[in-house]
Amino acid sequence: MPNIVAVGLQWGDEGKGKIVDFIASRADIVVRFQGGHNAGHTLVVGGKVFKLSLIPSGVIRPNLLSVIGNGVVIDPWVLLNEIETLEAMGISISERNLAIADCASLVLPLHSELDILRERIAGKAKIGTTGRGIGPAYEDKVGRRAIRICDLACESSISKRLDALLEHHSALRIGLGQERPDRQALFDGLAEIAPKVYRFAAPVWQLLHNARSSKKNILFEGAQGIFLDIDYGTYPFVTSSSTAASSAYAGTGTAPGALDRVLGICKAYSTRVGSGPFPTELNDEVGRRLADVGQERGTVTGRRRRCGWFDAAMVSQACRLSGAYAVALTKIDVLDGIEELKIGVGYKLDGEFREFLPPLAEEQARAIPVYESLPGWRESTADARNFADFPDNAIAYIRRIEKLIGCPIRILSNSPRRESTIVLEDLFSAS
Ligand code: GDP
Ligand code: IMO
Ligand code: MG
Repeated sequence: MPNIVAVGLQWGDEGKGKIVDFIASRADIVVRFQGGHNAGHTLVVGGKVFKLSLIPSGVIRPNLLSVIGNGVVIDPWVLLNEIETLEAMGISISERNLAIADCASLVLPLHSELDILRERIAGKAKIGTTGRGIGPAYEDKVGRRAIRICDLACESSISKRLDALLEHHSALRIGLGQERPDRQALFDGLAEIAPKVYRFAAPVWQLLHNARSSKKNILFEGAQGIFLDIDYGTYPFVTSSSTAASSAYAGTGTAPGALDRVLGICKAYSTRVGSGPFPTELNDEVGRRLADVGQERGTVTGRRRRCGWFDAAMVSQACRLSGAYAVALTKIDVLDGIEELKIGVGYKLDGEFREFLPPLAEEQARAIPVYESLPGWRESTADARNFADFPDNAIAYIRRIEKLIGCPIRILSNSPRRESTIVLEDLFSAS
């Protein structure tokens, strides 16, 4: 198998976890390269529901190595909790099947406190973050004051790094009318979990380099989606990392050339959690139906996801930005029974046609989608096992999307379960 990067092509929650779990059957290693526990991936395997945030979605498969790259920001308490939950579900985790980049940065309680506080202060202008401290943790990483996994090796290192970090956070919090962070509580907390987390620390760049040399198959798992990307997303309503496929290099210490193919993942309609422009959003009966049938509630925060029509202009841009050679289209079953389906094919802005969303948030908010209409289908697609089992109108809808986004759909997903995954064309074949 070539080394594949799987990335979301919309605003996250495209079903990346389910698809990564499926294709991980052909991988030796699955690596996360950005984001943190703002990600929430649901896998339904053998009647069990697994909810993952930090651990890569290949973890359910035996004999597979899960790796958390240096581009991920790691809340050590969440990590340990996730390990505990997985173990209770019969998945054992040890240094043999989990490695964490020694130079990855940590998310601490003061990060989520700051995240939540800033959102409260922003009021109506809030981003609608997950409140998990992801933005503040990345700020500290770039500000060169983060505590990293390697600092957990000894208490003196934790102590030294904590002083540098608190110098900044004390000033920040006082400026925001808050008390200084409790240094002792932070130190004690970190010292307590340090050995439990540090045992997974590894030079991930080297581990992956060696894996490549011995022809191991590596699957890089993206979190969030292209339109939450810090550069290409609907800024400022984005996350704080680069969600593009190219981020897999910097986020793991892998050199260009190591990634052979990019698989883009998108839903057969659109969803978004949190604030920000969403041109094809439906605030009507159809939107509510998509949310109900698609069970569109955030895995992380339980918030209801906003729903709308498939935006082909957006996904086409995402395919180009990520260099996708193939697409996995999920949740097609959610459209069953809708009489007329619409696909966004561009936008009207101040009377002018735009092929892609402009970069300015105010213009994005004013963009009016231009739609194509297609007839829906009455039949259930949830039990289809082959593409030929799909109703003609569903096939026409899928083929039209493929044409509009300019990228072949090679995988179709028609229920949350692992086995409801239809391969239209082998992902690993040359064409
Ligand atoms: P991720 O963040 O991209 O991994 O996606 P999430 O797991 O947050 O959200 C996708 C949701 O849709 C999860 O609840 C999945 O179980 C579910 N799901 C995935 N694929 C399908 C599908 O083809 N049909 C339906 N009905 N649900 C799906
Ligand atoms: P997965 O990996 C959907 C959104 C938040 C908010 C914005 C910024 O499950 O697809 P943050 O907490 O990152 O600072 O929030 O990004 N967001 C996601 N939306 N799926 C995700 O991850 C997300 N991770 C962050 O809702 O709008
Ligand atoms: Mg999710």
